[in-house]
Amino acid sequence: MAQEDVFKKLIAHCKEYGYVFQSSEVYDGLGAVYDYGQNGVELKNNIKKYWWDSMVLLHENVVGIDSAIFMHPTIWKASGHVDAFNDPLIDNKDSKKRYRADVLIEDQLARFEEKMNKEVAKAKKRFGDAFDERQFRDTNPRVLANQQKWNDLHERFSKALNDNNLEELKQIIVDQEIVCPISGSRNWTDVRQFNLMFATEMGSTSDGAMKVYLRPETAQGIFVNYLNVQKTGRMKIPFGIAQIGKAFRNEIVARQFIFRMREFEQMEMQFFVRPGSELDWFEKWKETRMKWHKALGFGDDNYRFHEHEKLAHYANAAVDVEYKFPFGFKEVEGIHSRTDFDLSQHQEYSGKKIQYYDPELGESYVPYVVETSIGVDRMFLQVISASYCEEEVEAANGKKDTRVVLKLPVALAPIKLAVMPLVKKDGLPEKAREIIDDLKFDFNCQYDEKDSIGKRYRRQDAIGTPFCVTVDHQTLEDQTVTIRSRDTMGQERVTIDKLKGIISEQTSIKALFEKLK
Ligand code: GAP
Repeated sequence: MAQEDVFKKLIAHCKEYGYVFQSSEVYDGLGAVYDYGQNGVELKNNIKKYWWDSMVLLHENVVGIDSAIFMHPTIWKASGHVDAFNDPLIDNKDSKKRYRADVLIEDQLARFEEKMNKEVAKAKKRFGDAFDERQFRDTNPRVLANQQKWNDLHERFSKALNDNNLEELKQIIVDQEIVCPISGSRNWTDVRQFNLMFATEMGSTSDGAMKVYLRPETAQGIFVNYLNVQKTGRMKIPFGIAQIGKAFRNEIVARQFIFRMREFEQMEMQFFVRPGSELDWFEKWKETRMKWHKALGFGDDNYRFHEHEKLAHYANAAVDVEYKFPFGFKEVEGIHSRTDFDLSQHQEYSGKKIQYYDPELGESYVPYVVETSIGVDRMFLQVISASYCEEEVEAANGKKDTRVVLKLPVALAPIKLAVMPLVKKDGLPEKAREIIDDLKFDFNCQYDEKDSIGKRYRRQDAIGTPFCVTVDHQTLEDQTVTIRSRDTMGQERVTIDKLKGIISEQTSIKALFEKLK
């Protein structure tokens, strides 16, 4: 199936099974804003727990905060967001559609990569086990030609971004003959800068309202609380402050479902270190974060690091963790060495000393910062993309059938078990509810009695519920139930008193943390 079709199916699946809905759908929706449904919110909470606990519980020198979305407007002047938090936009005059100029060029780079990968895949098929990919990439003329095109474009693009050269960005789009995907034309406007922050007013206008911004990143809430946390928590450098919260960006192009939203959530951690040690810490956090991703078991080959073409105004090193989504490798998380830029700026703009007295060195300094920043929604999309499967199975009548199953990491699954009476009579529903009453304080359980047992299993597979427990007539006689696994579809008969132990062992988030050691 084409990857585009897979992605369309994913979006439809998210809606059908209560994961993600378009915001304000009854009013025909609001661009790039989404709501999470009854299963979506549980998955989202589990992702946040996996991140939060891995930061705050597993690192004794990382603590959490929850800062307000509204902050003093000078914060955004000091941080550089008022002047420099821009994206280069370009319009197609025929379709009247607006694009990010850098994204159009990145898509062109991806096309060259795709051509090379296709050549490699074809050759791999032809040569089988004897295939040497390195040698092929180094010698095949078609791969080499595309690699050269990629290198030339990449170099020109990086330079244009670093020089903030908007005319050159437009020229690249013209020279590369990039067309508008809607109109198919090359009738482009000039490239302009567009600030991504949403502004609103605080206070009534008669008082003289103050222009405030909806925060475009949660990080600034951490920076301006650095001293509060350091002093009240008696924190010693190196230490980190973690936060999960909403962020808002008036994205020019809202595409790819929850990948790029105007209202989204971030999980950010600022790690404060001694000046000069930041690049070592940068490497450590790169490794720690990659391990966190890979522990979910979505395939190590589906991740890669991507060095930034252009460093943000505050960074001296930056890398993205990219995941292979159905629409290609894309950023899920950014790891940035932000130097002392933010704290120094807040020191200057607030006029308050923001420093750390290092007892070992016997001197005070503005700490340097290594940041890890991941979008909850992008992580959600990664989990859903990696988990969605269509499997051919044999139906009860012996015919082939397709089973749609979300093979979510069990610790993240919204519902851990569904309890089902085989029939809606003979005391089976009451027994099923008794089991739920016993387990509901430990796991998110669902009672399900509608439709045939086969249909109910399929429904739970599609939601991603790892276990289904079925109560039948034998249960009333010997206190046993069947427990069915989502992934293997295998069933086992166990006594009711064993359920808690089995499910707890299999679904505990501890198994994920073990892999982070
Ligand atoms: N504090 C640094 C910072 O905000 P970023 O690379 O702009 O860095 C970090 O954003 C992460 O936030 C991204 O890797 C992505 O996962 C998520 N993110 C950024 N913009 C987003 C958007 N419009 N929609 C969804 N997630 C977004």
